[in-house]
Amino acid sequence: MEGKLRPEYTREKTLNILSKATDILTLPHVINEILDVTSEKNSSASDLTDIIESDPALTMRILSVANSPYYGFVKKISTISHAVVVLGFQEIQNIALSMSVVQLFDRKGSEFTEKLWRHCFAVGVTTRMMANCLNCRMDGKYFVGGLLHDVGKIFLSQYLNERFREMISFMERNDNIRTYHVLEEEYFGISHSEVGGRLLDSWMFPQEICDAVAFHHNPTGSQNDPVFAACVHIADILCTVKGITPLKDYYFLTIQRSILPILKGLKENLSTDDMINLIPQIDLEIDRQSNFVSVFKR
Ligand SMILES: [Fe+2]
Ligand SMILES: [Fe+2]
Repeated sequence: MEGKLRPEYTREKTLNILSKATDILTLPHVINEILDVTSEKNSSASDLTDIIESDPALTMRILSVANSPYYGFVKKISTISHAVVVLGFQEIQNIALSMSVVQLFDRKGSEFTEKLWRHCFAVGVTTRMMANCLNCRMDGKYFVGGLLHDVGKIFLSQYLNERFREMISFMERNDNIRTYHVLEEEYFGISHSEVGGRLLDSWMFPQEICDAVAFHHNPTGSQNDPVFAACVHIADILCTVKGITPLKDYYFLTIQRSILPILKGLKENLSTDDMINLIPQIDLEIDRQSNFVSVFKR
Protein backbone atom coordinates (compact mmCIF):
# COMPACT_ATOMS: atom_id res chain seq x y z
CA MET A 1 0.00 0.00 0.00
CA GLU A 2 1.26 3.46 -0.81
CA GLY A 3 2.08 5.17 2.37
CA LYS A 4 2.83 1.90 4.18
CA LEU A 5 5.00 3.51 6.72
CA ARG A 6 8.44 2.44 7.71
CA PRO A 7 8.56 1.94 11.45
CA GLU A 8 12.07 3.39 11.87
CA TYR A 9 10.83 6.75 13.03
CA THR A 10 9.33 5.70 16.26
CA ARG A 11 8.59 8.13 19.03
CA GLU A 12 11.82 7.13 20.71
CA LYS A 13 13.89 7.93 17.62
CA THR A 14 12.25 11.30 17.15
CA LEU A 15 12.81 12.11 20.83
CA ASN A 16 16.42 11.08 20.44
CA ILE A 17 16.92 13.44 17.49
CA LEU A 18 15.11 16.17 19.41
CA SER A 19 17.34 15.81 22.43
CA LYS A 20 20.51 15.90 20.27
CA ALA A 21 19.16 18.96 18.44
CA THR A 22 18.47 20.84 21.66
CA ASP A 23 22.21 20.57 22.41
CA ILE A 24 22.90 22.48 19.19
CA LEU A 25 19.88 24.77 19.14
CA THR A 26 21.10 26.95 21.96
CA LEU A 27 20.07 30.52 22.53
CA PRO A 28 22.71 33.29 22.63
CA HIS A 29 24.62 33.78 25.88
CA VAL A 30 22.90 37.11 26.52
CA ILE A 31 19.56 35.29 26.78
CA ASN A 32 20.87 33.06 29.56
CA GLU A 33 22.05 36.14 31.37
CA ILE A 34 18.60 37.72 30.99
CA LEU A 35 17.01 34.53 32.35
CA ASP A 36 19.36 34.57 35.33
CA VAL A 37 18.53 38.18 36.14
CA THR A 38 14.76 37.83 35.71
CA SER A 39 14.65 34.73 37.93
CA GLU A 40 16.80 36.29 40.65
CA LYS A 41 14.64 37.99 43.31
CA ASN A 42 17.20 40.62 44.21
CA SER A 43 17.89 41.78 40.66
CA SER A 44 17.34 45.42 39.86
CA ALA A 45 16.17 47.14 36.69
CA SER A 46 19.71 48.38 36.16
CA ASP A 47 21.07 44.79 36.21
CA LEU A 48 18.72 43.88 33.35
CA THR A 49 19.48 47.15 31.52
CA ASP A 50 23.25 46.50 31.68
CA ILE A 51 22.86 43.01 30.20
CA ILE A 52 20.64 44.14 27.32
CA GLU A 53 22.85 47.12 26.54
CA SER A 54 25.84 44.77 26.22
CA ASP A 55 24.18 43.49 23.04
CA PRO A 56 23.62 46.34 20.55
CA ALA A 57 21.44 44.30 18.16
CA LEU A 58 19.13 43.22 20.99
CA THR A 59 19.05 46.80 22.31
CA MET A 60 17.89 48.09 18.92
CA ARG A 61 15.23 45.39 18.62
CA ILE A 62 13.81 45.96 22.08
CA LEU A 63 13.62 49.70 21.51
CA SER A 64 11.92 49.19 18.13
CA VAL A 65 9.36 46.87 19.69
CA ALA A 66 8.75 49.18 22.67
CA ASN A 67 8.04 52.07 20.30
CA SER A 68 5.71 50.12 18.00
CA PRO A 69 1.92 50.69 18.01
CA TYR A 70 1.61 47.22 19.62
CA TYR A 71 2.22 48.83 23.03
CA GLY A 72 0.77 52.21 22.13
CA PHE A 73 2.98 54.28 24.44
CA VAL A 74 2.49 57.97 23.76
CA LYS A 75 6.01 59.02 24.76
CA LYS A 76 9.00 57.79 22.77
CA ILE A 77 11.08 55.20 24.63
CA SER A 78 14.68 55.97 23.82
CA THR A 79 16.59 54.03 26.47
CA ILE A 80 16.59 50.43 27.64
CA SER A 81 16.20 51.53 31.25
CA HIS A 82 12.94 53.26 30.29
CA ALA A 83 11.82 50.15 28.33
CA VAL A 84 12.54 47.93 31.35
CA VAL A 85 10.44 50.16 33.59
CA VAL A 86 7.42 50.39 31.27
CA LEU A 87 7.46 46.82 29.92
CA GLY A 88 8.60 44.95 33.01
CA PHE A 89 11.05 42.08 33.46
CA GLN A 90 8.72 39.32 32.25
CA GLU A 91 7.73 41.09 29.05
CA ILE A 92 11.36 41.90 28.18
CA GLN A 93 12.31 38.29 28.87
CA ASN A 94 9.52 36.94 26.65
CA ILE A 95 10.39 39.31 23.79
CA ALA A 96 14.11 38.52 23.94
CA LEU A 97 13.52 34.75 24.19
CA SER A 98 11.05 34.57 21.33
CA MET A 99 13.15 36.79 19.04
CA SER A 100 16.10 34.47 19.61
CA VAL A 101 14.02 31.38 18.86
CA VAL A 102 12.86 32.87 15.54
CA GLN A 103 16.53 33.53 14.68
CA LEU A 104 17.44 29.86 15.31
CA PHE A 105 15.44 28.58 12.34
CA ASP A 106 15.44 29.20 8.60
CA ARG A 107 12.69 31.59 7.68
CA LYS A 108 13.14 31.45 3.91
CA GLY A 109 14.15 28.75 1.49
CA SER A 110 11.00 26.90 0.60
CA GLU A 111 7.44 27.94 -0.05
CA PHE A 112 6.36 25.73 2.86
CA THR A 113 8.78 27.42 5.29
CA GLU A 114 7.71 30.90 4.28
CA LYS A 115 4.02 30.05 4.51
CA LEU A 116 4.51 28.36 7.88
CA TRP A 117 6.20 31.45 9.32
CA ARG A 118 3.48 33.67 7.87
CA HIS A 119 0.96 31.42 9.63
CA CYS A 120 2.91 31.65 12.92
CA PHE A 121 3.09 35.45 12.90
CA ALA A 122 -0.60 35.67 11.99
CA VAL A 123 -1.51 33.30 14.84
CA GLY A 124 0.60 35.45 17.21
CA VAL A 125 -1.38 38.56 16.29
CA THR A 126 -4.72 36.69 16.33
CA THR A 127 -4.08 35.04 19.72
CA ARG A 128 -3.81 38.51 21.19
CA MET A 129 -7.08 39.50 19.46
CA MET A 130 -8.74 36.38 20.88
CA ALA A 131 -7.49 37.15 24.42
CA ASN A 132 -8.86 40.66 24.03
CA CYS A 133 -12.20 39.27 22.84
CA LEU A 134 -12.36 37.18 26.04
CA ASN A 135 -11.54 40.26 28.14
CA CYS A 136 -8.27 38.70 29.37
CA ARG A 137 -5.76 41.10 30.85
CA MET A 138 -3.44 42.09 28.01
CA ASP A 139 -0.10 40.37 28.30
CA GLY A 140 2.73 39.83 25.83
CA LYS A 141 2.53 36.09 26.44
CA TYR A 142 -0.41 35.85 24.02
CA PHE A 143 1.60 37.05 21.03
CA VAL A 144 4.58 34.89 22.01
CA GLY A 145 2.46 31.74 22.51
CA GLY A 146 0.75 32.24 19.16
CA LEU A 147 3.99 33.07 17.36
CA LEU A 148 5.71 29.94 18.64
CA HIS A 149 2.71 27.56 18.67
CA ASP A 150 3.99 25.60 15.66
CA VAL A 151 7.69 25.71 16.53
CA GLY A 152 7.50 21.89 16.73
CA LYS A 153 6.30 21.78 13.12
CA ILE A 154 9.11 24.14 12.14
CA PHE A 155 11.55 21.84 13.90
CA LEU A 156 10.23 18.67 12.23
CA SER A 157 10.19 20.31 8.80
CA GLN A 158 13.79 21.56 9.14
CA TYR A 159 15.51 18.89 11.23
CA LEU A 160 13.72 15.80 9.89
CA ASN A 161 13.25 17.38 6.51
CA GLU A 162 13.26 14.30 4.30
CA ARG A 163 10.73 12.45 6.41
CA PHE A 164 8.60 15.57 6.69
CA ARG A 165 8.56 16.12 2.91
CA GLU A 166 7.62 12.46 2.48
CA MET A 167 4.67 12.96 4.84
CA ILE A 168 3.43 16.13 3.11
CA SER A 169 3.74 14.53 -0.29
CA PHE A 170 1.79 11.46 0.94
CA MET A 171 -0.88 13.79 2.30
CA GLU A 172 -1.20 15.64 -0.99
CA ARG A 173 -1.15 12.52 -3.19
CA ASN A 174 -3.95 11.08 -1.11
CA ASP A 175 -6.06 14.19 -1.30
CA ASN A 176 -5.60 15.00 2.38
CA ILE A 177 -7.70 11.98 3.29
CA ARG A 178 -5.74 11.48 6.51
CA THR A 179 -5.29 14.61 8.55
CA TYR A 180 -1.94 16.14 9.20
CA HIS A 181 -2.23 15.20 12.88
CA VAL A 182 -2.85 11.52 12.20
CA LEU A 183 0.03 11.36 9.74
CA GLU A 184 2.36 13.13 12.12
CA GLU A 185 1.78 10.44 14.74
CA GLU A 186 2.42 7.76 12.10
CA TYR A 187 5.56 9.33 10.66
CA PHE A 188 7.16 10.68 13.83
CA GLY A 189 5.38 8.99 16.75
CA ILE A 190 4.91 12.40 18.35
CA SER A 191 2.85 15.51 17.70
CA HIS A 192 4.38 18.86 16.73
CA SER A 193 2.63 20.38 19.76
CA GLU A 194 4.51 18.07 22.12
CA VAL A 195 7.78 18.73 20.26
CA GLY A 196 7.13 22.48 20.55
CA GLY A 197 6.40 22.28 24.27
CA ARG A 198 9.59 20.28 24.85
CA LEU A 199 11.68 22.74 22.82
CA LEU A 200 10.36 25.78 24.70
CA ASP A 201 10.91 23.97 27.96
CA SER A 202 14.55 23.34 27.02
CA TRP A 203 14.93 27.08 26.38
CA MET A 204 13.48 27.89 29.82
CA PHE A 205 10.35 29.64 28.60
CA PRO A 206 7.78 30.33 31.33
CA GLN A 207 5.68 27.22 32.00
CA GLU A 208 2.44 28.86 30.88
CA ILE A 209 3.89 29.50 27.39
CA CYS A 210 5.30 25.94 27.16
CA ASP A 211 1.84 24.64 28.10
CA ALA A 212 -0.07 26.84 25.66
CA VAL A 213 2.17 25.55 22.85
CA ALA A 214 2.05 21.91 24.00
CA PHE A 215 -1.76 21.99 24.23
CA HIS A 216 -2.72 24.27 21.35
CA HIS A 217 -4.64 21.42 19.71
CA ASN A 218 -6.09 20.19 23.00
CA PRO A 219 -6.50 23.23 25.28
CA THR A 220 -8.43 21.44 28.04
CA GLY A 221 -5.32 19.28 28.51
CA SER A 222 -3.45 22.32 29.84
CA GLN A 223 -3.19 22.16 33.62
CA ASN A 224 -1.56 25.54 33.74
CA ASP A 225 -3.76 27.92 31.76
CA PRO A 226 -6.40 26.34 29.48
CA VAL A 227 -7.72 29.78 28.51
CA PHE A 228 -4.32 30.77 27.11
CA ALA A 229 -4.08 27.44 25.23
CA ALA A 230 -7.64 28.01 23.96
CA CYS A 231 -6.75 31.49 22.65
CA VAL A 232 -3.91 29.94 20.63
CA HIS A 233 -6.15 27.03 19.57
CA ILE A 234 -8.91 29.30 18.24
CA ALA A 235 -6.47 31.78 16.65
CA ASP A 236 -4.81 28.85 14.85
CA ILE A 237 -8.16 27.73 13.45
CA LEU A 238 -9.24 31.26 12.44
CA CYS A 239 -5.97 31.87 10.54
CA THR A 240 -6.19 28.43 8.93
CA VAL A 241 -9.82 28.92 7.85
CA LYS A 242 -8.77 32.27 6.42
CA GLY A 243 -6.20 30.46 4.29
CA ILE A 244 -3.09 31.66 6.15
CA THR A 245 -1.65 28.17 6.32
CA PRO A 246 0.97 26.09 4.55
CA LEU A 247 -1.31 23.03 4.54
CA LYS A 248 -4.63 22.20 2.96
CA ASP A 249 -6.23 20.26 5.79
CA TYR A 250 -8.45 23.03 7.11
CA TYR A 251 -11.62 20.97 6.65
CA PHE A 252 -10.56 18.89 9.63
CA LEU A 253 -9.89 21.67 12.09
CA THR A 254 -12.66 22.30 14.59
CA ILE A 255 -12.77 24.13 17.87
CA GLN A 256 -12.53 21.73 20.80
CA ARG A 257 -16.04 21.89 22.22
CA SER A 258 -15.02 21.03 25.79
CA ILE A 259 -13.18 24.35 26.05
CA LEU A 260 -16.33 26.40 25.51
CA PRO A 261 -17.72 26.18 29.09
CA ILE A 262 -14.34 27.43 30.39
CA LEU A 263 -14.41 30.36 27.98
CA LYS A 264 -18.04 31.14 28.80
CA GLY A 265 -16.89 31.47 32.42
CA LEU A 266 -14.91 34.50 31.22
CA LYS A 267 -17.49 35.88 28.83
CA GLU A 268 -20.97 34.62 29.50
CA ASN A 269 -22.55 35.55 26.17
CA LEU A 270 -19.63 34.28 24.07
CA SER A 271 -20.84 32.88 20.76
CA THR A 272 -19.11 31.38 17.74
CA ASP A 273 -20.05 34.62 15.94
CA ASP A 274 -17.64 36.50 18.23
CA MET A 275 -14.86 34.29 16.90
CA ILE A 276 -16.00 34.32 13.27
CA ASN A 277 -16.27 38.12 13.39
CA LEU A 278 -12.55 38.29 14.13
CA ILE A 279 -11.67 36.70 10.76
CA PRO A 280 -12.10 39.82 8.59
CA GLN A 281 -10.18 41.87 11.19
CA ILE A 282 -7.09 39.65 11.11
CA ASP A 283 -5.55 41.29 8.00
CA LEU A 284 -6.12 44.76 9.43
CA GLU A 285 -4.52 43.81 12.74
CA ILE A 286 -1.54 42.17 10.99
CA ASP A 287 -1.12 45.40 9.05
CA ARG A 288 -1.42 47.50 12.19
CA GLN A 289 1.20 45.38 13.97
CA SER A 290 3.56 45.12 11.00
CA ASN A 291 6.27 47.28 12.63
CA PHE A 292 6.21 45.14 15.75
CA VAL A 293 6.21 41.86 13.82
CA SER A 294 8.98 42.94 11.44
CA VAL A 295 11.41 43.37 14.36
CA PHE A 296 11.08 39.63 15.10
CA LYS A 297 11.89 38.78 11.49
CA ARG A 298 15.15 40.75 11.29
FE1 LIG B 1 -0.31 23.25 15.37
FE1 LIG C 1 -0.83 26.29 13.47
